[in-house]
Amino acid sequence: MNNHFTRTLVTTALPYANGPVHLGHLAGVYLPADIYVRFKRLQGEDIIHIGGSDEHGVPITITADKEGISPQDVVDRYHRLNLDAFARCGISFDYYGRTSSESHCRTAQEFFQEINAKGVFIKRKERHFFDPETKRFLSDRYVTGTCPICSNPEANGDQCEQCGTHLNPRELIEPRSKLSNKVPELRETLHWYFPLGRFQEQLESYVNSHEGDWRMNVLNYTRTWLKQGLNDRAITRDLHWGIPVPVDSEEARGKVLYVWFDAVLGYISFTREWAERQGRPELWRDYWQNSDCRIIHFIGKDNVVFHTLMFPAILMAWNERRTEGVYSLADNVPASEFMNFEGRKFSKSRNYAVYLGDFLDKFPADTLRYTIAMNYPENKDSDFSWLDFQNRTNGELADTLGNFIKRSIDFTNSKFNGEIPYECTEEDWTSLGIDWQECFEKLDNAYEQFHFRDAAALTMQIARSANRFLTDSEPWRVLKSDPEAAARTMALSVNLCYTLAIAWYPVIPDTANRIYAMLGFSETLDEALKNGTVSWGMARFPRLGKGHKLSAQSEILFRKIDDKDIAPELEKIERLLAEIGKEEVEAQESMHFKPEIRFEDFLNVDLRVATVTACEKVKKTDKLLKLQLKVGSKKRQVLAGIAQSYTPEAIIGKNVILVANLAERKIRGELSQGMILAVEGNDGKLNLVEVDGSGVNGKIVQ
Ligand code: 2FM
Ligand code: ZN
Repeated sequence: MNNHFTRTLVTTALPYANGPVHLGHLAGVYLPADIYVRFKRLQGEDIIHIGGSDEHGVPITITADKEGISPQDVVDRYHRLNLDAFARCGISFDYYGRTSSESHCRTAQEFFQEINAKGVFIKRKERHFFDPETKRFLSDRYVTGTCPICSNPEANGDQCEQCGTHLNPRELIEPRSKLSNKVPELRETLHWYFPLGRFQEQLESYVNSHEGDWRMNVLNYTRTWLKQGLNDRAITRDLHWGIPVPVDSEEARGKVLYVWFDAVLGYISFTREWAERQGRPELWRDYWQNSDCRIIHFIGKDNVVFHTLMFPAILMAWNERRTEGVYSLADNVPASEFMNFEGRKFSKSRNYAVYLGDFLDKFPADTLRYTIAMNYPENKDSDFSWLDFQNRTNGELADTLGNFIKRSIDFTNSKFNGEIPYECTEEDWTSLGIDWQECFEKLDNAYEQFHFRDAAALTMQIARSANRFLTDSEPWRVLKSDPEAAARTMALSVNLCYTLAIAWYPVIPDTANRIYAMLGFSETLDEALKNGTVSWGMARFPRLGKGHKLSAQSEILFRKIDDKDIAPELEKIERLLAEIGKEEVEAQESMHFKPEIRFEDFLNVDLRVATVTACEKVKKTDKLLKLQLKVGSKKRQVLAGIAQSYTPEAIIGKNVILVANLAERKIRGELSQGMILAVEGNDGKLNLVEVDGSGVNGKIVQ
């Protein structure tokens, strides 16, 4: 890591403008980024936060078709909704763009043209489903038909929802177009591919250069891909919604750039749009094309390879043979794990979610920001629960922080005429029993290394110490007998309020501003920060001298959350869980109620214990693994749609159950000789059915 950066560019994953963002998105991406950016602003660093809406992709056209509106209507609605929710939550973007903007279209097309002109792309003719009625090529999700595995008549072209099998639309029995319900034809079409493999070595050295500073999950996930060898990735689609492929010939007609190719470039377009707005159109280059700038992408774990391999490779292709206009690669990609909701994965389709805007209609942003910071899914999945939210708000924010601030301000106002009655010395400050040096070193490290849970916990520790100091010093008791001691206590307490205002600013900025206002400043903390009147370093020492006048008004910072406030939320979860439970039971029951078979029929299925001897990803797919199995003295090759649940290394050596006498078939041009058994969990992961014990290989399962 280069430690000599003079400015920082923070980007946050562009949420699809196809639905409202929920608390899981906030926890994984936007809150951590905002906390980091606010911390850096307090340190006086040149830092900008760029985000925006991802407005292309098939799910958006599907929503539009379902609602009978245009894709533009869909993205307009959710762009506005999400932008508003982020603003209400205090996510302080410097710029929030849209990938449907003209300028983004220009940037993305410029990249395509530059890389195309360098001869990097590969063009390939392939056969895809085409709807003869609407005259449109059908992406996988636009094809439906009967699942070849479980006979579900409504399986999607990419996956059967009933049995979970990942499919290629060409595997469906009696495929139909979702647009016209007609039988689609296979037609030849041409697509542009990005040869990721060509950048394998460069990408490896890029990733290796970040050993030790990137998170382990990011390194591991990226390396799994690198180890398997990188494949060509199609970067164009036959769709009517997206950025047109900028090639002036018949072959590009009706084709758009693949949503991921355009989305990552959104970070660049939006920085350009931001620079325009600043009235300095070339300023974006200081962030993207200057090695003095540190680029950090905040994302969720599902987006890792797009940011550690795909986007860097696109930039490498652009940079090839260039001496000017060379782009920098990200210095860090702090990908989070997921935050669950009341013990289950958020699910948009089941409405099992709390949307950010809805939450903020009921509760203040800072109570949410604090609870989520304390549950930041840094290196493992975490959970949001209403009870935890209530306990943290009442016990930590209200009883500890809020109580301390109010007591300090009120007592100084009523007994010392609203003025700091004593000049604190460094000795007084040290006598508080807080090792300020160590405390701020720990805080600095926590923020620098993206340990936001630690940062919030350490800051709450300062509030606890302050609260205890005030309680133990009992100024109300000693006021008469030792007014000097009471004055000293209040001067220290009010200075602690000042420290807390600054220290809390990254995590709960609205609260920090309100504390700052109670301290009697006429400008807000945000303004003070912009004007340079306040900085992070000022939190470490007592800053408010004798005679400093407080605001006459104090306020309750946090209203406690009653059981009745969260009761409707708990009821809603109970209802949803009951519905989900019912659906799951029904799904299970429908499995049980497959047509009855005779015992002899069951005996016809040859189930064997097989040992995985080798395994690799199937090229050009995200979901398929190719397994080599040993079954007694025989060998088998089986393709399984489990790549999103297992890495190849993780399953070598496992004893699995093979349906050994299933007719062979070809999947993606590869022979699959049987099937292995797996069960889908509530989290969507497939779990292989494994057999323990020695000497079981090749044995019949009975
Ligand atoms: O997963 C998602 O929600 C994507 N829309 C994220 C895109 S991030 C970036 F590439 F724009
Ligand atoms: Zn199925």
